[in-house]
Amino acid sequence: MPEALALHGASPLRARPFAAWPEFGGAERSALERVLASRSWGGHPSPNTEARAFSRAFADYLEVEHAVTCTSGTTALLLALQAARLSPGAEVITTAYSFVATAAAIVQAGCLPVPVDVEEDSLCLDPDAVEAAIGDRTEAILPVHLACSMADMDRLPAIASRHGLALVEDCAHAHGARFRGRAAGSFGDFGCFSMQSTKLLTAGEGGAISVRKDADADRLWSLVDCGRKEPGFDSFEGRMLGHNLRISEWQAAVLREQLRRLDDQHARRRERVEQLERALRSFPGLDMLPADPRVSARTHYQTILRYDRDAFSGVPRDHVLLAFHAEGLPCFGRFYVPIDEDPLFAFDPLTNPGLGRGLSSSDWDFPVARRAAYEETIWLPHELFLGGPEDVDDIVSIFERVRAGAESLAARPPSGRPPR
Ligand SMILES: Cc1ncc(COP(=O)(O)O)c(C=O)c1O
Repeated sequence: MPEALALHGASPLRARPFAAWPEFGGAERSALERVLASRSWGGHPSPNTEARAFSRAFADYLEVEHAVTCTSGTTALLLALQAARLSPGAEVITTAYSFVATAAAIVQAGCLPVPVDVEEDSLCLDPDAVEAAIGDRTEAILPVHLACSMADMDRLPAIASRHGLALVEDCAHAHGARFRGRAAGSFGDFGCFSMQSTKLLTAGEGGAISVRKDADADRLWSLVDCGRKEPGFDSFEGRMLGHNLRISEWQAAVLREQLRRLDDQHARRRERVEQLERALRSFPGLDMLPADPRVSARTHYQTILRYDRDAFSGVPRDHVLLAFHAEGLPCFGRFYVPIDEDPLFAFDPLTNPGLGRGLSSSDWDFPVARRAAYEETIWLPHELFLGGPEDVDDIVSIFERVRAGAESLAARPPSGRPPR
């Protein structure tokens, strides 16, 4: 007799919440008091001691020459594209499977996003599709290191350099991920990080751009700070049409402390994710995305599982997600949807270059991203893996209970849709 499901009235398998995020302690409290007492709370006028200190520490952590702080991951992308000095209307090839900010920043920088599909295993930008999409007006490639994967940092930098294109990495999910020993954000001309509340490194809001060339870094500091050209940060010609996108000293001070915690948190998550991986080896129907051996340090902003409905009596992915939720497991399916599903980026001559290139709307199709979004993936947020081994035991028990109850789930399907 299969166990009853919480969705059908049984008690949820997990009644307690999982680990709370973000983590903080005395170090963050004293950092905030330090800023309070300094009376220097913003990013202008100087000194912005905390922002500079965090920028240096973050650049050292990534082993890059510079990091420039700003207000968010979205503005980090905008600033990087502006600092790259792309021509108005230039095409930027990017992934069809990401948060809206990735493509929106391209439009906000006065360029046109050219989305292409993702690879089956990593769900990151497909280098073959990138090569096929390069045209006369292409000036940059913008991959996203998604969830627990990294984009192909062998092939994409090589393609960018062969075609003289800028490479801007969206590292919003990948603080500290490494590919062949090198950090996400250290391969491109620019690496764009988000420090928004859910991210692996957070001050509630915030962003940073890793950058290799002195002149690019100085241009970014100027763009962030209303176009000011400060002595010592002026190694570029001309003036920048800047914004005020300065991070506050409060945020920077918190980020300095959070950065000290980051590697320990990565290690704790990895241990728990490995525990889950071992359990799933003998569990039909749910698999981890395969690990790319070139990714020498995997991070786990979200851990993506691949779902096979055949092992769950044919139950659609969204119904299984609702059953997991009812059992007390936070998880997502439509974390992102393919870009063409967003009315902002529908096939339209004003907002995308496809028509000018002779494409039709039937070419505007991203089957790998579509399957991932609607049928095959289950996203588990990182804080699930910051607790003890018993948390992973509960996750596995939830999977087992729902699979054992799959026939009754098929017979009495839930209504509605999971939150994302
Ligand atoms: C892949 C990706 N890029 C960019 C961003 C934008 O970051 P922010 O929310 O800090 O603006 C996010 C945020 O969720 C993201 O997930």
